[in-house]
Amino acid sequence: AGSGKFFVGGNWKCNGTKDSVSKLVSELNAATLETDVDVVVAPPFIYIDQVKNSLTDRIEISAQNVWIGKGGAYTGEISAEQLVDIGCQWVILGHSERRHIIGEDDEFIGKKAAYALSQNVKVIACIGELLEEREAGKTFDVCFKQMKAFADSISNWADVVIAYEPVWAIGTGKVATPEQAQEVHAAVRDWLKTNVSPDVASSVRIIYGGSVNSANCAELAKKEDIDGFLVGGASLKGPDFTTIINSVT
Ligand code: G3P
Repeated sequence: AGSGKFFVGGNWKCNGTKDSVSKLVSELNAATLETDVDVVVAPPFIYIDQVKNSLTDRIEISAQNVWIGKGGAYTGEISAEQLVDIGCQWVILGHSERRHIIGEDDEFIGKKAAYALSQNVKVIACIGELLEEREAGKTFDVCFKQMKAFADSISNWADVVIAYEPVWAIGTGKVATPEQAQEVHAAVRDWLKTNVSPDVASSVRIIYGGSVNSANCAELAKKEDIDGFLVGGASLKGPDFTTIINSVT
């Protein structure tokens, strides 16, 4: 850990029921969390209000997606204004599942980020390479291209956290080694220094996601440029997520 306050996000993805959400919220409410960590959970849209009304204010709430602009005749979408209305402070954008399964592209994601920020919704901006891209030696190219799309749309980085999530590590149990993650985090920070500003490079938090669990988080958290985690599967279990939050060094 290096830049800024340690940040741990739990991305619940498309999981849960009213009952399981209520159990997880109770576990998180009862947990003792280190004070020096920003904690955010991202329930499915449909449970955000339930979580907002039952979860301790100690933990902030994120959406997993948002519409690209002001609301209106966009069937099935949720606007940034609506997130603000229910007290949801964050949104995850550019997640690999939305890039590769739903087909969102760099430009669309960049515009979403700009609009969300304009409405004071903070952004967890995700980047990361596919296995074939890593094997072809293109990890940095892919991550920098995704970073450029964010940088083209974002002018104020104070409300942005970058999440490096190598696609081959997501939900696979195949976590990046601390060295592999550190290498990309350092490269992204260096890219920011050259392409955005030295200030942003040194202040923005770069968190790691991909098969983070209660057993591997401590080693990862020791690395200089790993400023926290974005956790999928393990964030659905209160005790495991608590261990990850408390891995702050
Ligand atoms: O956004 C978090 C994520 O994609 C990682 O998922 O299940 O590998 O921790 P998981």
